[in-house]
Amino acid sequence: MSRGLVLREARIEDARALLEWRNDPETRARSFTTAEVPGDEHMEWLRRVLSDPEITLYIAELDGVRVGTVRLERNRVPGGLCEISWTVAPGARGRGIGKKMVAGAVSGLSVAATARIRHGNTASERIARAAGFRLEGEDDDATYWRRPPESREDR
Ligand SMILES: CC(C)(COP(=O)(O)OP(=O)(O)OC[C@H]1O[C@@H](n2cnc3c(N)ncnc32)[C@H](O)[C@@H]1OP(=O)(O)O)[C@@H](O)C(=O)NCCC(=O)NCCS
Repeated sequence: MSRGLVLREARIEDARALLEWRNDPETRARSFTTAEVPGDEHMEWLRRVLSDPEITLYIAELDGVRVGTVRLERNRVPGGLCEISWTVAPGARGRGIGKKMVAGAVSGLSVAATARIRHGNTASERIARAAGFRLEGEDDDATYWRRPPESREDR
């Protein structure tokens, strides 16, 4: 990770930033659910996520300012895989933050990971490749990516 960029676990105080990023028009256009999320629904979602031991929600901070988020959901897809998704704050995009924060979040992961990226999201495809994901397949909506688990010897 570059100097200044750190990942920490999300807290309830991050609710507002996460909602703003989620409802940003470009984020919605790149998501599989494009509707704007209402505040109360978001709070309910965040509380559930924070209390779920199978989910790790990271906030990336650059020099103490929130700049993005990465979510790791274990056992969400069959086969014990860990599903990864990410968003960079609208004002922080195009500066290499997505690439660094996703690589940092999956570094050392001892289980296989997957990611699903909507067609046309070239930046996210580059982020996935740089973080060790390989293209596995595609359908009409998306490409499917998989990252092998890291063994202890890889570290
Ligand atoms: C997609 C997103 C995560 C990219 O984050 P970012 O911090 O702007 O990306 P980076 O600056 O790390 O760039 C990653 C790579 O994509 C390239 N890139 C950045 N913006 C790009 C764009 N608009 N079009 C094409 N390539 C782009 C960069 O040059 C870099 O390429 P490199 O590997 O050759 O160096 C961010 O724009 C975002 O959050 N978008 C909305 C939500 C979203 O798409 N989430 C992901 C769903 S899978």
